[in-house]
Amino acid sequence: VNAAAATWRVGHDLTEAEADTVFGWLSGDTHWAKGQPRSVFDRSLAGSLCFVLRDAAGSLAGFARVISDRATFAYLADVYVATEARGRGAAKALIRAVSDHPDLQGLRRWMLITRDAHGLYEPFGFTPVPHPERFMQRHEPDIYSRAAGTDDRS
Ligand SMILES: CC(C)(COP(=O)(O)OP(=O)(O)OC[C@H]1O[C@@H](n2cnc3c(N)ncnc32)[C@H](O)[C@@H]1OP(=O)(O)O)[C@@H](O)C(=O)NCCC(=O)NCCS
Repeated sequence: VNAAAATWRVGHDLTEAEADTVFGWLSGDTHWAKGQPRSVFDRSLAGSLCFVLRDAAGSLAGFARVISDRATFAYLADVYVATEARGRGAAKALIRAVSDHPDLQGLRRWMLITRDAHGLYEPFGFTPVPHPERFMQRHEPDIYSRAAGTDDRS
């Protein structure tokens, strides 16, 4: 497992083919971006610091992106590891690269939302929000599915 974990590489640019694959992962296989239009995905990449995980052979294995002013705050989103690459430390390598990025040091706050992967983020210092009553959001969970007439909610 440790030998496999050491083989992961992280870059910041997706090839066209890789972007197609990541779009398929997120829009097809996540509860939060299911049905997302390709144009929205493309704009999300353009406005983010992307993290592209590849295996030793250079094959795409995972993706994450960070939305940040690169000074005070960052939001970690769209963390995904290819099904065939799971369970070998890929996500940990990805979050390590995010955490270590030179443009993302000294930030006062990081945020993310997760249903069940809290244990992935805890070693990197993430905790539950201590005062959720202080947090507000505007949220349209079915913004991508409304047009398709489905009822998927994040
Ligand atoms: C969650 C996901 C990114 C994990 O990827 P992975 O490469 O299999 O994870 P790793 O092998 O690096 O291990 C993750 C670590 O976090 C822990 N963990 C906690 N919650 C977890 C969860 N829901 N899924 C997977 N691992 C989880 C694991 O136990 C492991 O720690 P350990 O090695 O100490 O046991 C991957 O399963 C995935 O892409 N799932 C679908 C999309 C998704 O849910 N993304 C996360 C959104 S917050």
